[in-house]
Amino acid sequence: MNVTIIGGGNLGTALALGLKDAYPGHSITVTKRRVEQITYLMDQGIAVSTDNIASVEKAEVVILAIKPYQIAKVLKEIDEKLRGKIVVSLATGVGLEEMRKSISSNCKIGRAMPNTALRLRQSLTCMVMAEGTEDNARQKVNSIFEAVGEVIWIDEKLFDAATVLGACGIAYVMRFIRGMMQGGIQIGFDADTALKIASQTVLGASTILKEEGTHPESEVDKVTTPRGCTIAGLNEMEHQGFSSALIKGIQYSFAEIENMKQPE
Ligand SMILES: NC(=O)c1ccc[n+]([C@@H]2O[C@H](COP(=O)([O-])OP(=O)(O)OC[C@H]3O[C@@H](n4cnc5c(N)ncnc54)[C@H](OP(=O)(O)O)[C@@H]3O)[C@@H](O)[C@H]2O)c1
Repeated sequence: MNVTIIGGGNLGTALALGLKDAYPGHSITVTKRRVEQITYLMDQGIAVSTDNIASVEKAEVVILAIKPYQIAKVLKEIDEKLRGKIVVSLATGVGLEEMRKSISSNCKIGRAMPNTALRLRQSLTCMVMAEGTEDNARQKVNSIFEAVGEVIWIDEKLFDAATVLGACGIAYVMRFIRGMMQGGIQIGFDADTALKIASQTVLGASTILKEEGTHPESEVDKVTTPRGCTIAGLNEMEHQGFSSALIKGIQYSFAEIENMKQPE
């Protein structure tokens, strides 16, 4: 497959590297105005360019890894070369209908919402393609994002929710781990050991859920002995608003998505 990624920033470069790793045979180009910042990609066999139009012309699949407010401008710039191609946007808050307004060519469009774990090929990517897109195109896009983690297909109306839970979710979990570390240091561990214990414990907990398909609360039951220290700590966390803070934070993030469409 010949893939062009427009926008060689955090996500664009990580996707290019993950994809090249999984499919060394794919031909990948990443574009960026300050292309000198990503010439290191060439060592991995990834082409870099400042020329969006020429890079789109040779591609079968075009991925837009630019900021939401840049989508319309870049789509108009590459429009004439998009005929018959697949275009997938990673931008937060820009819907398929809005993308279509900037495109006159007959092409297939979709959206993908990965998270930054794609650089270690551990993303969870939510995907949607416009109604009527053939299975063949869906499979191609699916294989690109499966190269950097897991893929789930969702209804477009859930895309902002997917952004919050999956993409912002990385930050929520990082803050949780930092909180565990701070508690661990207070009860005696040095920072490095506390981080190791906290991060491996989070990995272990999510591996249990993924591998065994159990419900989180049934796993809590397994470690909360009556009158024990785990339930005492958990209940105190809930008295202090633990779950409530998380739920409210998720709602706040969700309400802010509209603002991300504005230029910085
Ligand atoms: N970060 C996340 O966790 C996350 C998760 C899911 C989705 N997203 C979405 O993914 C998109 C990219 O996010 P990011 O974090 O990778 O942003 P980023 O690091 O700012 O990358 C955007 C890149 O686009 C390049 N660019 C800007 N205009 C361009 C143009 N006309 N042609 C070619 N390249 C251009 C910029 O470089 P130059 O200025 O040098 O051109 C920059 O490197 C955003 O829309 C974001 O909403 C992000």
